[in-house]
Amino acid sequence: MTKRFERKSVIVTGAGSGIGRAAAHAFAAEGARLIVADMNQSSGDATARQIRDHGGEATFVRTDVSRARDCAAMVEAAVERYGRLDVAFNNAGINLAVAPIAEVSEEEWARILGVNLTGVFLCMKHEIPALKRSGGGAIVNTASVGGVIGTAGVTAYCATKHGVVGLTKSAALDHIADGIRINAVCPGGTRTEMLAEWFKDPAVEKRALEHTPIGRMASPEEIAKAVLFLASDEASFMVGHALIADGGLTAQ
Ligand code: NAI
Repeated sequence: MTKRFERKSVIVTGAGSGIGRAAAHAFAAEGARLIVADMNQSSGDATARQIRDHGGEATFVRTDVSRARDCAAMVEAAVERYGRLDVAFNNAGINLAVAPIAEVSEEEWARILGVNLTGVFLCMKHEIPALKRSGGGAIVNTASVGGVIGTAGVTAYCATKHGVVGLTKSAALDHIADGIRINAVCPGGTRTEMLAEWFKDPAVEKRALEHTPIGRMASPEEIAKAVLFLASDEASFMVGHALIADGGLTAQ
């Protein structure tokens, strides 16, 4: 069977862990050449090494997506290393400790906006000219179920993720004429470091499982499958869509 991303130049941010790492592996298995971007040197390096150990092509570029210079350098690395950019998965994100809005400090608010929302903006700002030079391509941004519904105690996070959905839809309309399809993925609870942090309180985990109709959390690999679909030609008619993969959470 032909590989869906044979020789494609693909950037994945937040690729040192969780959903990003699973997606980087999945893209590599489909023939892609990867730029593994993460602000964590050792985990990002590890993802790139794992891909190379499996016979794939991957370069780690230390990137803090909240910094414009880093985002520019990440895209430059893709173009320099692979001659072009075809796909970007803007996935890096953080969460804050659960707290009502009045207890969120201005610093925390600025930090989460900087990574989750400005980070996606900066990545797209630098990726789009490179994608145009390639004659088109695809971008997938990681939003969340928190991008389509609210959740008590995670106000700032939900605000950033609603922002990612809006950014995705509008940017998709701006660039469809350039042959660039831009979509978002909205995962529900997924077994990663981020979720483990949230589930430190067993009562939170119990509640999350009870509220998820499928009765379990997703694996990062399940979310990666939705991402690869959106990034592939199979999704050729999908533009500005926020694809929910949440085990039925938002169907209730
Ligand atoms: P994770 O914590 O396992 O991985 C996040 C990765 O992003 C880490 O490798 C971290 O070093 C990197 N990162 C953090 N800040 C960064 C920055 N400023 N620049 C570059 N890299 C940075 O988390 P997970 O769960 O894999 O999250 C990935 C995305 O999925 C995030 O955007 C998150 O909000 C979203 N998401 C996760 C859900 C879950 O239940 N795990 C549910 C819905 C959305």
